Amino acid sequence: MKRIFSGIKPTGHLTLGNYLGAVRRWVEVDQHQADALFSIVDLHALTVEHDPARVTRLSRQAATLLLAAGLDPERCTVFVQSQVDEHARLSYLLECVATDGEMRRMIQYKEKSVRAREAGQSVRLSLLTYPVLMAADILAYGTDEVPVGEDQTQHVELARDLAVRFNQRYGQVFAVPRATHPKVAARVMDLQDPTSKMGKSHENTGGIVYLLDDADVVRRKIMRAVTDSGREVVYDRAAAPGLANLLDLLAAATGEDQAGLAASYDSYGALKKDTAEAVVELLRPVRERHAEFAADPGQLDRVLRLGAERARGMARPVVDRAYRAMGLLPAV
Ligand code: TYM
Repeated sequence: MKRIFSGIKPTGHLTLGNYLGAVRRWVEVDQHQADALFSIVDLHALTVEHDPARVTRLSRQAATLLLAAGLDPERCTVFVQSQVDEHARLSYLLECVATDGEMRRMIQYKEKSVRAREAGQSVRLSLLTYPVLMAADILAYGTDEVPVGEDQTQHVELARDLAVRFNQRYGQVFAVPRATHPKVAARVMDLQDPTSKMGKSHENTGGIVYLLDDADVVRRKIMRAVTDSGREVVYDRAAAPGLANLLDLLAAATGEDQAGLAASYDSYGALKKDTAEAVVELLRPVRERHAEFAADPGQLDRVLRLGAERARGMARPVVDRAYRAMGLLPAV
């Protein structure tokens, strides 16, 4: 059976971008068609300045939201990365396969390291090596497919390269994974700045729809979305990115196609209104179920304990094989 792995980083509240780019597909498709694992990748949240109590809180909230969105622990494995040692164990081996040039070319490293320096912060070494840990997350499970938004493509490519290189040098240990993306909304843009990605940790939150925003807040953010200066409703990402983003959201929520939707509107206001309502309805069940799950933290603990045990059982033999292939003595 095909193996699927994906993860989400608890660096902020989950957004509509996370939902449409990744989580919705995990729920609707991936958990039904494969042996699938979904992880709250908390070690990745330590690569930038962080508040420990906030990371704890956000990890639990993200896990609760994944269940609320519809991941079923009977069908798939939901777990927290730091509770499974194999990720960190494998990451070091892969650091011995990756090169520093490769790391420095990563777009997210370039962007985030500039931002940290501008904020007067030092750049953590783990920000540079982050993609290697991500490769370890993926390769430890013999993963075939990695369902992610478009922004993660380069990282998954690195995981592929490292798998191939490791296998060539040390013998066949890893499956070679590939990224998969949703057809629509693989890159949801910020509503206030439609040329940049809707990201959970941006400072200006006016352009970000969070999964736990109240319906009225969602409506307000979408009604205030920056649109373009023309009058006609067209779907053109380059010339009219604000409109294109709204049309992507509406298409993702309704299942219709963007160009057809564009043709059916003659005002920006009407498009915004319908998009706002469609997104509110899309998120309503997630928000309602989140409240139910949040009321029973014991249930979450049980799911995560079982998830970590299962994940460990899958990763351990692969990582042990990688240790032996690289010449390390077997565990005693
Ligand atoms: P993260 O936590 O930033 O995002 C989680 C998932 O949401 C997708 N996503 C988006 N999709 C569309 N539009 C957006 N605006 C948007 N914002 C986020 C991301 O592409 C991702 O699929 N490095 C990863 C976490 C990770 C991981 C892994 C993923 C660590 N190890 C192994 C897959 C496999 C990250 O930062 O995702």
